Amino acid sequence: MPVAILVGGQWGDEGKGKVIDILAAKTDMVIRSQGGNNAGHTVVHDGVTHKFHLIPSGILFPNCLCVIGNGTVLDPRVLLQEIDALADQGINTDHLVISDRAHMIMPYHPLFDQLEEEARGDDRLGTTYRGIGPAYSDKIRRIGFRIGDLTKPRFMEKKLHFVLRLKNEILRDLYRTDEFDEKQILDEYSAIGERLAPYIQDIFPIVQDALREDNNVLLEGAQGALLDLDFGTYPYVTSSSPTAGGALTGSGIPPREVDMTIGVFKAYTSRVGYGPMPTELLGVEGDRLRELGAEFGTTTGRARRVGWFDGVVANYSSLINGVDSVALTKLDVLSEYETIKICTGYFHKGELHRHPMSNISHLKHAEPVYEEMPGWGTSIADAKTWEDLPGACQRYVERLAEVIGAPCDIISVGASRDQTIFRKLPY
Ligand code: IMP
Repeated sequence: MPVAILVGGQWGDEGKGKVIDILAAKTDMVIRSQGGNNAGHTVVHDGVTHKFHLIPSGILFPNCLCVIGNGTVLDPRVLLQEIDALADQGINTDHLVISDRAHMIMPYHPLFDQLEEEARGDDRLGTTYRGIGPAYSDKIRRIGFRIGDLTKPRFMEKKLHFVLRLKNEILRDLYRTDEFDEKQILDEYSAIGERLAPYIQDIFPIVQDALREDNNVLLEGAQGALLDLDFGTYPYVTSSSPTAGGALTGSGIPPREVDMTIGVFKAYTSRVGYGPMPTELLGVEGDRLRELGAEFGTTTGRARRVGWFDGVVANYSSLINGVDSVALTKLDVLSEYETIKICTGYFHKGELHRHPMSNISHLKHAEPVYEEMPGWGTSIADAKTWEDLPGACQRYVERLAEVIGAPCDIISVGASRDQTIFRKLPY
């Protein structure tokens, strides 16, 4: 099983970190291929809780080469903080490689993120304010800076002179706010460049060697399919492609090398930020599920919106990604419920829809069609095998697999590593 793609099947926060941590133990190379420090992975490893935003969770395994791929946008300040935090815990980062093609979040990007959000008023997206959208926009406009540019001070200076003129003009004339100082940025980023230099490489030969040698490679997705720039709930999406296709362009791995796509799905639904979420539970019902699932963001601490499992979203996401195997997370959170709902369709203007409509306002007004299943009413936190799960719980999982269209091979029943049931190991 040399190459596997792991994607979030919903709106992010599916619990990918734990699954990656489990798979990384048998993986030679983990590649982060899109997004930036808008992501947050919580991993409980050897009893210690780690929160990663940029560094692939595989860093905890010294034999796993951790690659930050070309498709990411990287805030070098945040990366250094993560490297330092790991060093404080005695964790070595010598096996970290950063693609010189990855784009950088510049000091002005988070500010533009915030100013643009404020300018949108009631239509704001609820971004993480990490500068992700502005950095990807600059990449597309070809005025972005790549990590490799840090090793070319004269180029940086010349380009920044031009780019900062554009940025400062907008800050001054449109937003009427302070401008950025060119020298200050150059000084700061050249110091950062010196510290990051040992990690920066052209990853093309590294990835190609790994493929040629049949190494196990895991493409670690961030966010989720419904936040995809093309297939998500646009414009309430992130600025990258967190789908299987994005994993390939973000790493330089060709489609023919991919052996399996693993979709991570939470046993219910959550979302942060604004935008349609047809199965959202509001009021006390929402509060109950949020508390039970401890649904507060790793990156921003924001309370997540929560709701019943949305099978319309899950099936769509499974098809868009080509999911072969499902890792189902947080199943234990539903243990207290007498009945559990699964959404299998949306009603809109008298019509039944089996996949999410691209028209965002239709989706916003879609009424979920639910199936109800009996709950299991007992804790499953200690379940170690499929047989340990109560019958009603097994039936819920089997129904989810049917709705998603792929088998639930990994089932997570708690935060720690040993609270995981493997019906079939992906590799
Ligand atoms: P941005 O990626 O910061 O531009 O935010 C755009 C949307 O994606 C917002 O709704 C964010 O809350 C959401 N988002 C970005 N990253 C994540 C993530 O890792 N998990 C969940 N939601 C995310």
